Amino acid sequence: MSIWRVKPVSAFEADMKKNDLKRVLTKWGLTSLGIGAIIGGGIFTLTGIAAHDYAGPALALSFVIAGIGCLFASLCYAEFASVLPVEGSAYAYAYGTVGELFAWFIGWNLILEYMMGATTVAVAWSGYFVKLLHLFHIDFPIWLCNDLTTATEKAREAGIEAPAFAINLPAFIITLIVTSILVKGIKEAAKTNNIIVIIKIAVVLFVIIAGAFYIDTANWQPFVPEETTTIVDGVEKVNFGFGGVMTAATIVFFAYIGFDAVSTQAGEAINPKKDVPFAIVASLIICTVLYILVSLVLTGMVKYDVLDKSAPVASAFAENGLGWAVFIITIAATAGLTSVMLVMMLGQTRIFLGMAKDGLLPPFFKDLHSTFKTPYKSTYLVGAIIALVAAFTPIDKVSEMCSMGTLLAFAMVCIAVMILRYKKPELERPYKTPALYLVGTLGVSFNLFLMYYVRAETWYAFIIWGVIGIAVYFFYSKKHAKLNNPEEFDRLDENRN
Ligand code: ALA
Repeated sequence: MSIWRVKPVSAFEADMKKNDLKRVLTKWGLTSLGIGAIIGGGIFTLTGIAAHDYAGPALALSFVIAGIGCLFASLCYAEFASVLPVEGSAYAYAYGTVGELFAWFIGWNLILEYMMGATTVAVAWSGYFVKLLHLFHIDFPIWLCNDLTTATEKAREAGIEAPAFAINLPAFIITLIVTSILVKGIKEAAKTNNIIVIIKIAVVLFVIIAGAFYIDTANWQPFVPEETTTIVDGVEKVNFGFGGVMTAATIVFFAYIGFDAVSTQAGEAINPKKDVPFAIVASLIICTVLYILVSLVLTGMVKYDVLDKSAPVASAFAENGLGWAVFIITIAATAGLTSVMLVMMLGQTRIFLGMAKDGLLPPFFKDLHSTFKTPYKSTYLVGAIIALVAAFTPIDKVSEMCSMGTLLAFAMVCIAVMILRYKKPELERPYKTPALYLVGTLGVSFNLFLMYYVRAETWYAFIIWGVIGIAVYFFYSKKHAKLNNPEEFDRLDENRN
């Protein structure tokens, strides 16, 4: 059955041999990359919606729940990365182990993770950028920095007439800027990334330490506000209570996404088999601790119902009269979000590249620019889609699509690692997930359980996405896969010897 065929390990090794990237990344360098990819729109922006609409002070609990699901997944990712230290992340791992259709479907969901992730961050960036300009007394009209739904809501809150048309111009423009950086190559951007990571962690620590002095424990009462149900556009919406805390967990789950991006850097790691697994787990644990503390501080500084939904961290400090802190946080968030966009868009084009090299996507996705040697066509395409979606869609819709895709991809990774351990116990595994069958099963259950709490409309969109994915596989990818042509791999094997 060709949907179960796997890419031979020798083919991966041949791919890696062709790798002309310099191996410069140490284990802490990789961890820093991971943290750089993780801290972004989730903590700086989505905490606002999650606390304001769904969890109240129990936001910290939502972070714990989402963090546990990610921890199981990260332990499984780590074992995978130690067996096959290749670029291409979960898609490549699954292709080398479980089989083609499974791998394709993971790749299809990774598109949601990376592309919708970058879109979410572009919208979050816009929120902070607008705040930053506001500090300099420059104000965008509502219709020029929001999608129509958000602009209408904001107009209603401000008691002004709702606009007939709206576009999130800052989100659109930042995406085009990041796209052009990526087309030129990111060697320079990688250096800046390290500085941005340091600034980002410094600001998060600042928020925790300085904010702690302004906590009023009365704001934490009641910790889990009573459940309410409202009907919005004919759809039932549960706020607060247990259901609300779980929905908030699916929203803030977005904040953890990115630890898996470490695995796309395997080609540049000095000792990928040991250091990539380390960095995946370490970056996630560090961010989990920081997030739980930030959410306690935020909901302690202000009552959850006055948290701003587009720039909640800055607004919590503004509410406490700390204008100067708002300035620092806003600048750091704007810079920090740009770096997350870079990593996510880069990850997307590299996953496309891997899939195109395997023949599962058209050659368009692997065409390299003659001077810059980057997959420029696919970068432009990815950039154009993200720019348009970010310009016209509310942030919660795109972030939920991203979370859905990622949750399913994580669950599939947990399954794949267990299958591999069972089918090929003899493979060398420099990192072995402790109690794999338990951790893996919990990972699958946790991630699927969180999917259950994602809103119905996101589910519909997600199912349509899945059906399109399967159709593309059977009509295009299965027929064009390189594995149809076994000589290709003989040739690769010859190269190896
Ligand atoms: N975790 C990343 C963020 O929050 C995707 O922006």
